Amino acid sequence: MADKDGLKAEKNYHIDTPFANGGGFYIKGANSLEWGMKKHLANIFDPKSGNTVMFAFDHGYFMGSVSGLERLDLVLPTLMDNIDCLMGTRGAIRTCVPPECRKAIALRATSGSSMLDDDLSHEVIAVDVEDCIRMNADCMAIQTFVGADGQLSSLDNLSRAVNAGLRYGIPTLGVVAVGKQMERTDRFFKLATRMLAELGANIIKTYYCDKFEEVVAACPVPIVVAGGKKLSEPDALKLAYDSIQGGARGVDMGRNIFQSEHPVHMSAAIRKIVHEKFTDKEAYQFFQDSIAR
Ligand code: R5P
Repeated sequence: MADKDGLKAEKNYHIDTPFANGGGFYIKGANSLEWGMKKHLANIFDPKSGNTVMFAFDHGYFMGSVSGLERLDLVLPTLMDNIDCLMGTRGAIRTCVPPECRKAIALRATSGSSMLDDDLSHEVIAVDVEDCIRMNADCMAIQTFVGADGQLSSLDNLSRAVNAGLRYGIPTLGVVAVGKQMERTDRFFKLATRMLAELGANIIKTYYCDKFEEVVAACPVPIVVAGGKKLSEPDALKLAYDSIQGGARGVDMGRNIFQSEHPVHMSAAIRKIVHEKFTDKEAYQFFQDSIAR
């Protein structure tokens, strides 16, 4: 292991230079994967824009029923047109997503804590790879806690998922958690995203931060930006816009969609930013116009 005291501050991100190992396949870092993995990733990332709108509704795995998701069976069908990928638990997907749905599936595969715990960083793999295959999952979402008490077990969960995923051709989505102890700085996100990619994750879900372009440049797989707590609609659209401008290949938003007073219009506005190069201002105008119609 390298001597961590001898490390120089990183600076050579070459943010204007495209990723060098594209090799013809449009998804970053996936060129050397086999057909089945590429197919799953292509189900998630639109081949035209290269981007994805993920809808996160996996909150129930540790929070139970949250405001806006009381009735998954009623909410989910209304959003389908604007979503590329559904990120949820197997319980929610099996019970509330019609199997005819043609959207990609990011299956939440870890669990182990609840919102009653002070420390949420201890999780296990809760869904075995055979069930991911049965559910036709396009990726397995693994929560990771870099720098927290549960770091070792969460990185073990990630590595186990990557090993199983490589065996059966299912990509792994590494989710960067930010607990109480973790800083929300580019320094932390550069560390965590790069670690998860080097451990074999094929997609990383993380938060937006200053110098986000550098976080993206140093991460050899696509990054999708997490929504986080509910913001005003203009602020949430700005977050989506800044993320895409900064090189994210999509967003994975939950509360900023389902806790909006107009979730369908909000998801449609986010889609405009992610796939149609709308600015946040144009998307907000679109949001207001579509409510007024
Ligand atoms: C975040 O890492 C967890 O997976 C959450 O359960 C969820 O995906 C968060 O979504 P949001 O913060 O956009 O409501």
